[in-house]
Amino acid sequence: MEKPVYYAPVPGRETAFSVAANAMKFGPGILAELGGDAVGLGMKRVALFVDEKVKDGEAYALATEALRKAGVDFEPYSAIKVEPTDRSFIAAAEFARDGNFDGFVSLGGGSTMDTCKAANLYATWPDEFLAYVNLPFGKLKPVPGPLKPHIACPTTSGTGSECTANTVVDLVDLKVKTAISHRYLKPSLAVVDPTTTHTMPAGVIAATGFDVLTHAIESYTARPYTTRQPPATPAARPAFQGANPYSDVGSLEAIRIGGKYLVAAVNEPDNLEARYQLMFAATLAGMAFGNAGVHLPHAMSYSVAGMNHTYVAKGYENDNPMVPHGIAVVINAPAAFRFTAPAAPERHLAAAEALGADIRGARLEDAGEILAARLIQMMKATGLPNGLNDLGYTEADLPGLVKGGYAQPRLLVIAPRETTEKDMEGMYRDGMRYW
Ligand SMILES: [Fe+2]
Repeated sequence: MEKPVYYAPVPGRETAFSVAANAMKFGPGILAELGGDAVGLGMKRVALFVDEKVKDGEAYALATEALRKAGVDFEPYSAIKVEPTDRSFIAAAEFARDGNFDGFVSLGGGSTMDTCKAANLYATWPDEFLAYVNLPFGKLKPVPGPLKPHIACPTTSGTGSECTANTVVDLVDLKVKTAISHRYLKPSLAVVDPTTTHTMPAGVIAATGFDVLTHAIESYTARPYTTRQPPATPAARPAFQGANPYSDVGSLEAIRIGGKYLVAAVNEPDNLEARYQLMFAATLAGMAFGNAGVHLPHAMSYSVAGMNHTYVAKGYENDNPMVPHGIAVVINAPAAFRFTAPAAPERHLAAAEALGADIRGARLEDAGEILAARLIQMMKATGLPNGLNDLGYTEADLPGLVKGGYAQPRLLVIAPRETTEKDMEGMYRDGMRYW
């Protein structure tokens, strides 16, 4: 029998995919080159967005020394909120606007890089906050033109935000997370120095590492780009275009690296090889989902994080109580992949195999369960909460969870299977407890 082809042409549908390739450099100690990188992008006075905790560490010392040596003036901004809000973005934009900067550098995790993207956007093209925010909460106004140059330097191996055109925001009054997505938000350069992960607590590696894995598995199992309507104009082809042969390369390799090294990176503090590998996987997965998109586990995460401001995760004891992004996502992942697998069973089985599951003798109809079981095994091995119950959610929260999760049309449309609100309620119910 002929093997099914994931990208078989569909009459009347999209025939092409496009790649906005990332400029990036990767290596231990590469932050020492930051000054030259900044000068190369024409920066003379930089807004340096830095996580408060990172400010005391080696990475900050290395980065600021590099800027000084290259004669680049900089002003640090560290009022970064972990899991940023509309209010924290507006405050950051005011700093960016008032400082007369010609470039931006971010040094931190996803929250820091995302805050920097938003500050650059609103300082360069001022508008009311909801103007650029995604539908249905915002107005999805296209960004009028390029932003100022931005060098993103991740210090956690998670979000891949250094490679994406996306910034996630918690709209406090609406109790919902959404995003601003536009290609001009993509950083001009990613400087990825894995030595920055040396001091990361195990709990943070676990949370951010599962974010990497879900980015990779979701982009690998996303609907094929060939099933979308063709764009009205070339410029209208979305960044999140569905799985495609380019995103497959990064996502499958990121799944493989994560499957091999994530548990060790969490449980063996001295295993630098595992931490470095995970850092590269994060960037690879960022490149993949930056071109393909993510779907149900991420869509469902928004209400999981948005409705809970009391949870304290391991490794995040010094932050405001919240569900870290990676936990809010992976907590839905086994349930979501059980649901999506029938639409693309070969892909789910291939993802499970790359993740380290034994698929000898597996049947295609078991693909979702095999992928879910391998993820659950890894969640258990790294001390993650056992389903939504452990975050404090019960059946009574289902309507609220579904409302927020279903309000992410840009992500739902990337799922390989059409999803009703009833389907989503079933997934949240399935995700209440895993073992
Ligand atoms: Fe994510």
